[in-house]
Amino acid sequence: MKIKKAIIPAAGLGTRVLPASKSCPKEMLNIVDKPAIQYIVEEAVKSGITDILIITNRGKGVIEDHFDHSFELEAQLRAKGKDDIADELSALADMANIYFIRQKETKGLGHAVLCAKEFVGNEPFAVLYGDDVIIGEDPAIGQLCRASEKYGKCCVGIKEVPTELVPKYCTLDVEKIDGNTYNVYDMIEKPKVEEIISNFSILGRCVLTPDIFGILSEIPYGAGGELQLTDAMKIMAKKGEMLGVDYTGIRYDMGNKLGIMKANVEVALNHKEIGEDFKEYLKEIVKEL
Ligand code: UTP
Repeated sequence: MKIKKAIIPAAGLGTRVLPASKSCPKEMLNIVDKPAIQYIVEEAVKSGITDILIITNRGKGVIEDHFDHSFELEAQLRAKGKDDIADELSALADMANIYFIRQKETKGLGHAVLCAKEFVGNEPFAVLYGDDVIIGEDPAIGQLCRASEKYGKCCVGIKEVPTELVPKYCTLDVEKIDGNTYNVYDMIEKPKVEEIISNFSILGRCVLTPDIFGILSEIPYGAGGELQLTDAMKIMAKKGEMLGVDYTGIRYDMGNKLGIMKANVEVALNHKEIGEDFKEYLKEIVKEL
């Protein structure tokens, strides 16, 4: 079944990027000239997703404004002959059917996903974590959707991470099927060093079936006192219902300061307007390091 719906959880507190995230949601932090969440919505649209639910909470209304028309601004731009940028803003509001729901208490990613139950209905759906931007030719969530549609299973986006970082993410028991596709048999969220199964972790993307909602409703709250999506996905994995795709593309973690800087530097270097000037500037700077 073709995957048409996606959810973007964007209701986290963003404590690792305070004070920036105090009044500006971390999902709205810029990468050069676009907020992080715009890159994520564009990735979903390029992958054939038509309906997107963004999960927000108090203080994140600017996300709604960003994906809405701004008729006054567009009219003023046109009056000044700046039709290009007016067209770009108009297209941004029409990219997809974008809906919003509030997660009224910040009880974890699993709890945020549960808020999407009515929106999802009875179809498989994609999840794009609101602070993980992935840049690449072939959109990452599209790669997961294709694997999920081919094998009729759920799918997580996976990458090998350095051993010292595995306890911050999760560890997976995987077996290669073909190319960059794996069966995932088990997963442990934030493992202790002695619990590490492999360096593969889930990073930023997954495709799930509505079965996940029943599981999320029944499992207890896990690590950090939060309802953990990984704990629910682990049950699917143990039933043989879970794939992993080692997707192509570079992932930037907009939930931490270094990730934000890496994203800005690398995207700026390839930017058609400022790329060349920025490269010259960086070359000068590195001489002094
Ligand atoms: P994170 O755990 O990275 O986000 O969740 P966080 O809680 O904001 O991080 P800290 O405070 O810096 O440790 C991954 C994604 O899930 C969303 C976040 O907005 C982020 O995009 N999320 C997390 C929710 O929507 N609701 C939650 O209750 C928790």
